[in-house]
Amino acid sequence: MKVSASFLNSKNIPLDLVKLNETDVDYIHVDIMDGKFVKNKTMPFREMRHIYQYTSKRLDVHLMVENPSEYIPLYAELNTECITFHVEVEEDILKDLELIKQYSIKCGLAINPDTKASALIPYLPYLDQILIMSVVPGEGGQEFIEGTERKIHEVRALLDSYHLSAVINVDGGINDLVKDKCQEADILTAGSYIIRSGDFQEKISSLR
Ligand code: DX5
Ligand code: ZN
Repeated sequence: MKVSASFLNSKNIPLDLVKLNETDVDYIHVDIMDGKFVKNKTMPFREMRHIYQYTSKRLDVHLMVENPSEYIPLYAELNTECITFHVEVEEDILKDLELIKQYSIKCGLAINPDTKASALIPYLPYLDQILIMSVVPGEGGQEFIEGTERKIHEVRALLDSYHLSAVINVDGGINDLVKDKCQEADILTAGSYIIRSGDFQEKISSLR
C-alpha cells in the first residue's frame, strides 16, 4: 500500500514537512480549500508554493474548490505528481482533466461520501486516480465513515469491468484501525494520524 501524508492539521508546516521528508512516505497530500466548495479556506497559492522549500517528495494535490481551472495552472508549477478535483463541481470536467494533462501531470477525480460511484463513469477512461472521500471534505481530524468500504469495492469493480488501471486513493479519517477496510485501495491518505503522532515513520509503516 502506498501512503500519502496530509499536513492540513499541522501546527508547524515547515517542521512537519521536513520530518515527513525523512520518512519513506510516497506523496505529500496538499489540501486546497476555497471557502466556497467547502466552508474552510486554506492559505493562498503565494504562501502555499513555499512548501517546495521543505520537501522533495512528489505532491498529490487535492482541490476542494468550485473552480479547478483557476488553480490547476498554479499547482501544476510545483513538484506535482497528480492534481485531483471533485466530480461534484459545475465546471466542464473533461476540459479541466484535459488542462491538467497539458502539464504532463496525472489527473484525478475525488468523490464525496454522498455521491454515487456511477457519477465517475463518464470520466473513467481519462483518470489516473480516483480519490474516494471517507469523510465529508472540509476539515482534518474527522472519523472514517463506515460504509466507505462498499464505495471502494464499487469503484474497483467499475475499473475492472472497463479494464482500466486508475489508482484508488482513500482520504479522510485513515488510521491503522480502518486500513483493513481499504484493502482494495492503492493509496491511503492520512493526516492527523501521522501528524499528531510522535513517530511519523511508525505510523506510515503501520498503514502499508
Ligand atoms: C479532508 C481532507 C483530507 C484530510 C485528511 O477535507 O481532504 O485530506 O485532511 O486528514 P485526516 O487524516 O485527519 O482525516
Ligand atoms: Zn484531501
